[in-house]
Amino acid sequence: LLQSTLSRLKEKVRTIPDFPEKGVLYRDITPLIGDGQFFRLVMTIFLERYQRRKIDKIAAIDARGFIFAGALAHILGIGLIPIRKKGKLPFQTFESEYASEYGVNTLTIHRDAVERGEQVLILDDVLATGGTAEAAAKLVERCGGTLVELGFLIELRELKGKERLRRYPIYSILQFP
Ligand code: PRP
Ligand code: MG
Repeated sequence: LLQSTLSRLKEKVRTIPDFPEKGVLYRDITPLIGDGQFFRLVMTIFLERYQRRKIDKIAAIDARGFIFAGALAHILGIGLIPIRKKGKLPFQTFESEYASEYGVNTLTIHRDAVERGEQVLILDDVLATGGTAEAAAKLVERCGGTLVELGFLIELRELKGKERLRRYPIYSILQFP
């Protein structure tokens, strides 16, 4: 990938200070996904990375992960698993509590979402502290799945999510700062 391409992509991410609370630098992906060429570029990069891997399911993290995971599952013709915030999934679930940048939350997965031994790719938009992704990874493993990788559009390096997730293969297209 050309450095200039990555720089242009990075410029499409808008930075908003003090959102959703004071002290947080929010990386806003809406300008990027709002531009069809840039959104397609992101999906082409993910496709290039994952099209030759053995992947049985793609797990998407509620909510912004749905955008990329849904698009990739569609292009690859692979089933999509929603990992959702508590109270949204109707069937029997497993739950995993986690602390994120802004507080405590619970993620859930349907117990029958993954079959034992299946290879699962997790996708989300941003890796910050890694709390969200770690909870999602535990849920996939709880169902008997094996993680292929955790893929992100953006890694916020200062928050050290990669260290927290050192048990797993991690990939990100863009790194901030
Ligand atoms: C954001 C982002 C990641 C998560 C990363 O989601 O989309 O999922 O935070 O943070 P962490 O690595 O510190 O856990 P958020 O929960 O704000 O909500 P949304 O995706 O529903 O907008
Ligand atoms: Mg999220």
